[in-house]
Amino acid sequence: MFRTFRGGQSGGWRVTSISPVAGEPLPFMPALSVTDGDAVALPLVPSRNAWRLVGVASSLRYTERPEKQQLVAVQAGLGRVEATCAALIPIRKSQAWWELTQEERRKIFEDKSHHIASSLRFLPAVARQLYHCRDLGEPFDFLTWFEFAPAHASLFEELVGMLRRTEEWSYVEREVDVRMVKE
Ligand code: HEM
Repeated sequence: MFRTFRGGQSGGWRVTSISPVAGEPLPFMPALSVTDGDAVALPLVPSRNAWRLVGVASSLRYTERPEKQQLVAVQAGLGRVEATCAALIPIRKSQAWWELTQEERRKIFEDKSHHIASSLRFLPAVARQLYHCRDLGEPFDFLTWFEFAPAHASLFEELVGMLRRTEEWSYVEREVDVRMVKE
């Protein structure tokens, strides 16, 4: 259920860049490994040579039935052989966001920012998975993970650029953009 992303010296993905988008950055590590299992129970050994982020794929909070149907109809799964590029974008939203009600958040997320409606056209080129970690006492609220083929790299830039200009993103107080290629 838990997925662990470890930036360090070895792993299946070679890190090409780690860019701070908002707030505190993460130190550059040459590789990223992705593992499954209850890593939260492992002792967190602070290290200058690695960092570790844990999240859980959870139930949908904002997606409504017709949107879910649209997504399911076009989305691609993780692990496609041609999708040799990946992005891990950990995000934390502000106190102001979390003080809103579910209904108010949905209004900003979709009615005003069109997060789902505007992102649909990037499927199936970009495969995605959202992990929640706010309630795990992690430094971020979400770990977002994306996989795409090198030919779709500029399409992915368009997608992140579009979302970062939305009202939803005015609530993002920490965001780091980790890019990598499959080894
Ligand atoms: C949430 C779709 C790209 C960051 C969601 C949700 C959907 C979605 C359906 C709502 C999940 C729920 O109901 O709880 C998409 C699609 C994308 C895309 C189709 C196109 C590939 C991105 C990108 C980022 C991102 C590029 C980051 C730069 C997030 C975050 C959430 C989220 C942080 C959680 C929001 C919250 O719960 O407050 N996305 N997304 N998404 N997405 Fe995206």
